[in-house]
Parts: sequence; structure tokens; C-alpha cells
Amino acid sequence: MQLPRLTGLICATALLALAQAPRAAEETDRVTGLTLEGDWQLVQANCTECHSALLITQNAGSRGIWQIRIATMRNTHGMDELDADIEARILDYLAEHYGQRQASRRAPLPTHLLPDNPYPPL
Ligand code: HEC
Repeated sequence: MQLPRLTGLICATALLALAQAPRAAEETDRVTGLTLEGDWQLVQANCTECHSALLITQNAGSRGIWQIRIATMRNTHGMDELDADIEARILDYLAEHYGQRQASRRAPLPTHLLPDNPYPPL
């Protein structure tokens, strides 16, 4: 294949790949990595004093799970009591942007596709 044609093909393939790439996720704060929406600054102000926001952004959970985590911060890690309104807004933010995720593992293979088990039963 001639070089110009090959280059054109590579460019076209790259453009196609770019066009199909998933859109960038929500915008995040450059320093904390928190999603730049709603009350993210309340989380920045109240939750990054002792540890990186990464502990938050890499976690996920329902509002109830986040409530338990915040209680843990208070009861075992020495976090000051939060104003009830502020805590509710932080919980809303966390539940919305770091909510429960679907399982990210693939579905298990059907048994007829699995190899025979070489081990004797226990
Ligand atoms: C007074 C200090 C302090 C404050 C303030 C604080 N944390 Fe923590 N947090 C900790 C400590 C200590 C750990 C344990 C760190 C470790 O295991 O390395 C932790 C761990 C965590 C974890 C990981 C827990 C796990 O189960 O893996 C999450 C999530 C978290 N904090 C969320 C928050 C949120 C949300 C806030 C704000 C509402 C907050 N933290 C405020 C001290 C604090």
C-alpha cells in the first residue's frame, strides 16, 4: 500500500476511534478530584482535612452507606459534629455523585463452558 494512502487510513481510523470514544465524564476539581457539581465544596471543606479526597472519590455507596461512613468519621476518627443541614447536603452530594454502582464484574460463565473441576470434593 502506498504511504499516503496508508497515512490516510490511519488518520481515518483514529478519527473514527475518537468519535466513538465515550464522552468525558463529569468535570472534576483539579486538586481534590471531586465532581464539580452541587455542594462539592462542602465536601472539600469538611472531609479533606484529615485525608485525601481520593478516599471519597474511590468509594461508592447509597446515602445510607455514606451516612454510616460519616458516623464512623465522627465516632472513631475524631471528626467534629457536622451541622445537620451541612451533613444532609454532603450526604445528598455523595449519594448522587458517588452512589451505589452496579457490579463491575462480568457475569459468571455458564457451567457447560467451565473446564472439569480437577479437585476432589471436600
Ligand atoms: C478528623 C479527621 C477526619 C475527617 C474530618 C474525615 N475523615 Fe474520613 N477518615 C479519617 C480516617 C482516620 C480514616 C481512615 C484512613 C485510613 O484507613 O487510612 C478515614 C477514612 C475515610 C474513608 C474510607 C473508609 C473506608 O471504609 O474505606 C472514607 C470514605 C471517608 N473517610 C470519608 C470521609 C467523609 C465523607 C468525610 C467528611 C464528611 C470525612 N471522611 C472526614 C478521618 C477523617
